[in-house]
Amino acid sequence: MKEWKGRMDQATATILREAIHSREPVDGLTHGLYRYPARFSPGFARAVIEAFTEPGDVVLDPFVGGGTTLVEARALGRLGVGVDINALSAFLLRAKTTLLSAQDVHELRSWGERTLVALNLRRPARRATTWMALGYQTNLTGRTTWPSRKLIELALDSIRLLANARQQRLARAVLLKTAQWALDCRAEIPSARAFRKQLLVHLHEVLAGALAFRGAALRADREVEPRGVPRTLFLQRSVEGIENEPRLTPYLPPRLVLTSPPYPGVHVLYHRWQVQGRRETPAPFWIADALDGNGPSYYTFGDRKRPGLAPYFARAAQAFTSLARIAGPQTLVVQLVAFAEPSWQLPAYLGVMQDAGFREATYSSLANARDGRVWRGVPNRKWYARTRGESSASNEVVLFHRLAQ
Ligand SMILES: C[S@@+](CC[C@H](N)C(=O)[O-])C[C@H]1O[C@@H](n2cnc3c(N)ncnc32)[C@H](O)[C@@H]1O
Repeated sequence: MKEWKGRMDQATATILREAIHSREPVDGLTHGLYRYPARFSPGFARAVIEAFTEPGDVVLDPFVGGGTTLVEARALGRLGVGVDINALSAFLLRAKTTLLSAQDVHELRSWGERTLVALNLRRPARRATTWMALGYQTNLTGRTTWPSRKLIELALDSIRLLANARQQRLARAVLLKTAQWALDCRAEIPSARAFRKQLLVHLHEVLAGALAFRGAALRADREVEPRGVPRTLFLQRSVEGIENEPRLTPYLPPRLVLTSPPYPGVHVLYHRWQVQGRRETPAPFWIADALDGNGPSYYTFGDRKRPGLAPYFARAAQAFTSLARIAGPQTLVVQLVAFAEPSWQLPAYLGVMQDAGFREATYSSLANARDGRVWRGVPNRKWYARTRGESSASNEVVLFHRLAQ
């Protein structure tokens, strides 16, 4: 099928190129609330949304993960729709788009002060017996890990006393961020004292981000006519079959689909933390008060060890067929995709897109490779992929598609 040559003005191309290749850390607004695996940079999301949509347009991210697209969409006055099967993603989305009142901020600051006193390992903690029985404290009961587990239990106890759901959610998010900092991919678990100190640092960071987000969202809201639907919608479900989803109807067709799907053959743990090497824990779900789905293949489009990644490409085909059914002639699909072995996986991936009803667009003003596409190196490779001798994908490509007419 003949590809489609896109055009854009010089200024837009320069901004997009810079955003695609930027090495800036993920930061600003509420983006720093959690290190969601394989999240893309807010600068990339912002540049793509500004380049291809107008205020009031709908931006859909069908694999929304940590919610980068929706935070940026809201701050830029676009309607944002996010879909993800991960319950952690649902929690993060809500926390990142919460509009706190001045009273909430005040209450959360004094919660921080009170919690510092309460996080004393000599105090008895209410054990999370149901979560324990369900295995959510796996690998948190060892000689070096139990203090962190107990600090989490003590902090969760204090969160229950906060006045409303917004405050409780933000406090949980602060605890989640601190527990991730203390446990995930770390050789040495920090002391109780360091944990307490970091919790307070994170509380102030999260509140500053939440206030910045509130300011940006309210400014943007004033400039865009309300459409009688929520400005941000999150659906916890699979994108497969999304064409039959009634909650989505008022938002269709989206102007932009901006996303990064699970990557072919690339090892990413969306639903676990790795404690002291390879030991995995589902504790983030316990802290977020959310239930986990299934094993890793649930989150990554199937078993990546099967020859030719057959399950992966079958699931991707279903997902993109569904997306084609809700797209319109004006919908642009922009994806950032990493490949373990681009030489055969990229053509297979493009085949899936074509069979689903899309045709590729390339922009010569963005291209940096002989194939006419724009590739970027991936910063911060995950060490666990290296230690397992697996690829963590060294290259990502930005793909543009529209419906084939
Ligand atoms: C690469 S991550 C997205 C990261 C996101 N761009 C961000 O900035 O945080 C891919 C996401 O796809 C989700 N996912 C996997 N299979 C899915 C499916 N069938 N439907 C919807 N989401 C799915 C995973 O849970 C994961 O959060």
